[in-house]
Amino acid sequence: MNTLTITRPDDWHVHLRNGPALADTVSDAARNFGRAMVMPNLAPPIVNITQARSYREQILAARPSGSHWQALMTLYLTDNTSAQDISDAAESGIIYGVKYYPAGATTNSASGVTNIDATDKALEQMQVSGMPLQIHGEVTDPDIDIFDREAVFIERILVPLVQRFPELKIILEHVTTRDAVAFVSDSNSNIAATITPQHLLFNRNHLLAGGIRPHYYCLPVLKRDVHQKVLIAAASSGNKKFFLGTDSAPHSKSSKESACGCAGCYSHHAAIELYAEAFSRAEALDKLEGFASHFGADYYGLPRNTETITLRHEPWQLPQSSKLGNEAMVPLSAGEQLQWQVIDGAL
Ligand code: DOR
Ligand code: ZN
Repeated sequence: MNTLTITRPDDWHVHLRNGPALADTVSDAARNFGRAMVMPNLAPPIVNITQARSYREQILAARPSGSHWQALMTLYLTDNTSAQDISDAAESGIIYGVKYYPAGATTNSASGVTNIDATDKALEQMQVSGMPLQIHGEVTDPDIDIFDREAVFIERILVPLVQRFPELKIILEHVTTRDAVAFVSDSNSNIAATITPQHLLFNRNHLLAGGIRPHYYCLPVLKRDVHQKVLIAAASSGNKKFFLGTDSAPHSKSSKESACGCAGCYSHHAAIELYAEAFSRAEALDKLEGFASHFGADYYGLPRNTETITLRHEPWQLPQSSKLGNEAMVPLSAGEQLQWQVIDGAL
């Protein structure tokens, strides 16, 4: 197989930032994808529809001319999110999910939820309104090993949450473990998961063996290869519960190459091509379209895109660095070779 034509994909989890970075992140996001689910962890976070409207306008103003790529907005759940905030969001026509960051779990999560039980009123309203909850599934307890934080979150927080809100739509974002894959696979159809390209292509050896490689550091952190293999199997299984969400999260080169480097991998320079690499290695390219272009839209109850993109098997070299506003950035797999490239359908 030398070319592969698929329905235009969507990205169900992305960080676009704001300010001067937007011109770069939005043009990358809009190149091959039809839509992006935009995460709300700005500083300060997007906690209401007024902020979401203004952020959306900034994003759309940064679109390349002629682009009809869409930004699907999210709200940031806090201990103070009210039922009214949720019903306003559900009626706004621009909010497609509410993101739950346990306070302190990751970048700009300081305003996140300190105790999920305190958000019951908001969660009840989400269940009634059909508003999905997008979860960063890691406990923040310093006594829990960082490699176990997702599995412990599932056991301590997620299982009781699903019992209390069985009709709530929940996306366990950027799953990284066999525990998460098993949980999602065994749950009812309200529960789904996104998978990033870095968790399909890499494991913790890429991050830590032979030297610390900060550009492979993201949260949840890369796990052992046994987990990576389960993620590849889930993504390429044709199971509709697993779909594309890059978690593309730009940070400047200097903020990652530091004594305390930021978490996040930037993958929007070559997102669909990185997924194609992972599916190609798994000999499952025929499963890429469902994962990348169908299952996410189906889960969110949105129409599938009608256009297509075409990839060709033709090795190419990723750049060593790219631009993030006024700063330099090192994207995922910088300088490496990929086997597939988009030849048609890109803006
Ligand atoms: O690695 C990450 N980076 N994980 C997250 O959950 C947040 C993200 C960011 O915003 O930089
Ligand atoms: Zn994220």
